[in-house]
Amino acid sequence: MKLPKRLYLLKGLFAFLVVAVAVSACKKDEVEEEEQIPSATPYNLVIPAGFPAMNIPIDNELTVEGIALGRRLFYDPILSSNNLVSCSSCHNQPMAFTDNGNQYSVGVDSIAGFRNSMPIMNLGWSPNLFWDGGATNIESQAIAPITDPIEMHQTLDAALAKLNSHPEYPTLFNKAFGSSIITSATLIRAIAQFERTVISANSKYDQYVKGEATLTTQESNGMDVYMDVNKGNCNSCHTLGGTFTDYEFRNNGLDVVSTDEGRARITTLGGDIGKFKTPPLRNISVTGPYMHDGRFTSLEQVVNHYNTGIQNHPNLAPQLASAVPNRMNSQEMQDLVAFLNTFTDESFLTNPAYGKP
Ligand code: HEC
Ligand code: HEC
Repeated sequence: MKLPKRLYLLKGLFAFLVVAVAVSACKKDEVEEEEQIPSATPYNLVIPAGFPAMNIPIDNELTVEGIALGRRLFYDPILSSNNLVSCSSCHNQPMAFTDNGNQYSVGVDSIAGFRNSMPIMNLGWSPNLFWDGGATNIESQAIAPITDPIEMHQTLDAALAKLNSHPEYPTLFNKAFGSSIITSATLIRAIAQFERTVISANSKYDQYVKGEATLTTQESNGMDVYMDVNKGNCNSCHTLGGTFTDYEFRNNGLDVVSTDEGRARITTLGGDIGKFKTPPLRNISVTGPYMHDGRFTSLEQVVNHYNTGIQNHPNLAPQLASAVPNRMNSQEMQDLVAFLNTFTDESFLTNPAYGKP
């Protein structure tokens, strides 16, 4: 019973975001005028070593008040049509903000079928959002397909009405954005501000790179497998350093025929069928199940796929098309999994700044 209910709610929630962005474009000038808010305190985001500078939109500079507001909204089911689901329902911090081990996270892509939830981490560096890159920045994550615009409008109106008649939100929005009248523009900006601060950069692997931790022999052997072009060759796509991905869209040989068209849903190009955003492998030990459709429940299954399961999809990435089956022996595969486990960032998963306010 749980799944259909959440499916329905999620559709409403994302529909609301889609409209929020559309309206945000119209309201742009208005918000820009309001921008010089003396009451809002500028927030200095610390960029971790090894990460590039973060592109923060000039019309949504981070403030202490804006981030706190976005965090509260992220955890508040008020954003859903019947007040039961918040962003955090499917983006839960102990799982690096994924959906509690659920394979399908309900309704996000109501057009193309079910997909597995994605982590919320280091999004300020991601050039695109969703498995198919259907949105290009956090504010505009709503360039996703609109299936029922009328229903969306109703949902947006309802959400804004609820927020505007709330005993506390108008004051909080006034502090963050200089107006107690809550608009879709300010709503989405607050959530984006919080998301930009949700940064993971302190895994054991990061500590090892900084000389603060030592890898075990097994982990170190696993790193060799990860880097070796004739073994794992994982680094050619899930590039270590910073975000642990190059964000390119690729097909990694899950199926011969893709049921989910992936990137092609956005570009409509045949050459993009079955390609998905190369996911970051940070915190990978806690974000299962794996792949866009959550088909693998363990990292062992994932590594087995790369070792012997690659399917000859027409758009298969060249690195994998040339990969020899059984190139890793069972010891190497175990070592690789041990190395993947060093990507877990406990301080991120338990950081109170990202938790429920
Ligand atoms: C019912 C589950 C659910 C809820 C509620 C939910 N999400 Fe998601 N979220 C998902 C799924 C599933 C995906 C992957 C969708 C896809 O790629 O098609 C996703 C993807 C995302 C992404 C893209 C991440 C990336 O790396 O590309 C962001 C950002 C995001 N969600 C933010 C939010 C915010 C903010 C809210 C609350 C306003 C929210 N989500 C509510 C399930 C959910
Ligand atoms: C050619 C590029 C490429 C190579 C090489 C590659 N991957 Fe991937 N990987 C991807 C893509 C693309 C996806 C997403 C595929 C999907 O969901 O359809 C992915 C998904 C994953 C996932 C699931 C992540 C999640 O959030 O669900 C894991 C884990 C993973 N890869 C680990 C590895 C390991 C370990 C190696 C080395 C043995 C490796 N990958 C090699 C491109 C690659």
